[in-house]
Amino acid sequence: MTARRHFPKGFLWGTATAAHQIEGGNVNSDWWAFEHDPTSGVAEVSGDACNSFELWPRDLELATELGSGAYRFSLEWSRIEPSPGEFSRAALDHYSRVCDSVREAGIVPVVTYNHNTLPRWVAEQGGWEWSEAPERHAQFCDVATRALGDRVGMGCTINEPNIVALEGYFIGNYPPGVRDLGRYAAVTESLVHAHRLAVDAIRSGPGSFPVGLTLSMNELVALEGGDVHRSQAIEILEDVYLRATTGDDFVGVQSYTRVFFDGDGFVVPGDGVRTTQMGYEYWPSVAGTTARRAAEATGLPVYITENGVGTEDDRERIEFLQGALESVHEAISQGADIRGYFFWSLMDNFEWADGYRAKFGLFEVDRSTFERRAKPSAGFYRDVISANAI
Ligand code: NOJ
Repeated sequence: MTARRHFPKGFLWGTATAAHQIEGGNVNSDWWAFEHDPTSGVAEVSGDACNSFELWPRDLELATELGSGAYRFSLEWSRIEPSPGEFSRAALDHYSRVCDSVREAGIVPVVTYNHNTLPRWVAEQGGWEWSEAPERHAQFCDVATRALGDRVGMGCTINEPNIVALEGYFIGNYPPGVRDLGRYAAVTESLVHAHRLAVDAIRSGPGSFPVGLTLSMNELVALEGGDVHRSQAIEILEDVYLRATTGDDFVGVQSYTRVFFDGDGFVVPGDGVRTTQMGYEYWPSVAGTTARRAAEATGLPVYITENGVGTEDDRERIEFLQGALESVHEAISQGADIRGYFFWSLMDNFEWADGYRAKFGLFEVDRSTFERRAKPSAGFYRDVISANAI
């Protein structure tokens, strides 16, 4: 038997969720509109999701059962600012209560200000293509921070802006469902700008907590003849955002798979490649390799703000988690400044265009009673957390 490998003292263990994926009833967001458009290709509507807008105290119990040091959740801009300049006191109070309770449970509240969704009124003006979007978003960050900043433990600005741009404007699976390279490039610029403005707005306080970006990063590998495509992908998908983290307090890395490029571009996994429910390769060690790359590229402390696997077979989740954590441990041993790991996700939830089919949770959710039940992987993760070791 191999000896236990310990993580550094104070390593932050957590799980992550996002408002639209668990709250239910986010009727005022661009995603809700997109899901209800029969031409969007979204598998099903989010509906009541996990009913977490009401049942968040139960979610907090789950995080507590795991022995989590941190819980990452997001604010829903479309609830907080349902119409331009009109801020909902009730919605701000709601998130304020969540922050208070997370803290009272001895858990660090890690708040994502924007996780994939926009209020409909922003989308109607052109979403991230609207010239005012970065400023409007910063204004929302400012108002939200004024309401709860003194209780936030860490702040994440815009979740995976690279995926928001890619899926929304190049692949067309996320709102607004566009496939246009020129518009994709413009939105990338807008998101980079929005991140910088958000950092400043959040730092204006109250509270003085670390602020950073959470970026989707994968292992990007060139096959024969694929160097040019790989370099282009690294630049537009990752490096442009990694450069935009200058001056931040940390960088959040979210990694799920590795991707190959040949002379024609992106290579779809062939027969015989082990894949997850998402159709991409099962590749746990991506957690450590990407975190290391982010650390080297930015010089900032790294938190793995998301990592997980979509699978119906929970034994596979345990195997994935073990493999991922081995790679993270190795990266730390090689000197990478990795300070925490957040498993995606606390519970099964609305996986965007894939609907509820893909299962990422440590807890399952009965979608008619909303009852949450631990899977064996929850016990596995709890043991890792309590030992601070694998
Ligand atoms: C990254 C996203 O932030 C999250 O919303 C999504 O559910 C997971 N990846 C899994 O695909």
